[in-house]
Amino acid sequence: MSYSSTTKHGATGAPAAPPPTSTVTLKINGVDTKLQLAPWTSLLDALREYADLTGTKKGCDHGQCGACTVLVNGKRINSCLTLAVMQEGNEITTIEGLGTQEKLHPLQQAFIDHDAFQCGYCTPGQICSAVGLINEGKARTEDEIRELMSGNLCRCGAYVGILNAVKEVVDSKNSEPRR
Ligand code: FES
Ligand code: FES
Repeated sequence: MSYSSTTKHGATGAPAAPPPTSTVTLKINGVDTKLQLAPWTSLLDALREYADLTGTKKGCDHGQCGACTVLVNGKRINSCLTLAVMQEGNEITTIEGLGTQEKLHPLQQAFIDHDAFQCGYCTPGQICSAVGLINEGKARTEDEIRELMSGNLCRCGAYVGILNAVKEVVDSKNSEPRR
């Protein structure tokens, strides 16, 4: 009796065809970035693996930890739960687009000032999420901030510092004169 394998090669014996890709143009941190992607590539993988923006972190890859949070048109989303092709034409902001080493974003500075990270793995997602929370304008009290940041998990338990950092920036925004 003879066996034939069809795992590496098709039924014809020819090598399996590479997966189909297409050019996707994503506006990331203000820059139009052309990427060659398979249609099922998540935004998270597009950022990390194809655009070399590894600031956005992969935790659970299932929408449960918030490590992959980025901003799309100013709103926070879990980048592991959306396909890159769905984000063409949108403004994507990652942690790399929020501040520079010379001029940190106020939340980046507040996280340093309040010792709001230990391993730092959740930090980019926490900061992007906090920017989205401030854009939403809903959180004023500590309880509201805790509730609205609850999608971002930190395994080290740096929550007290995170809360203090976010609260400081929320308070400073709320005290700005309204135009
Ligand atoms: S990696 Fe996206 S929510 Fe955990
Ligand atoms: S600082 Fe380590 S997981 Fe948040």
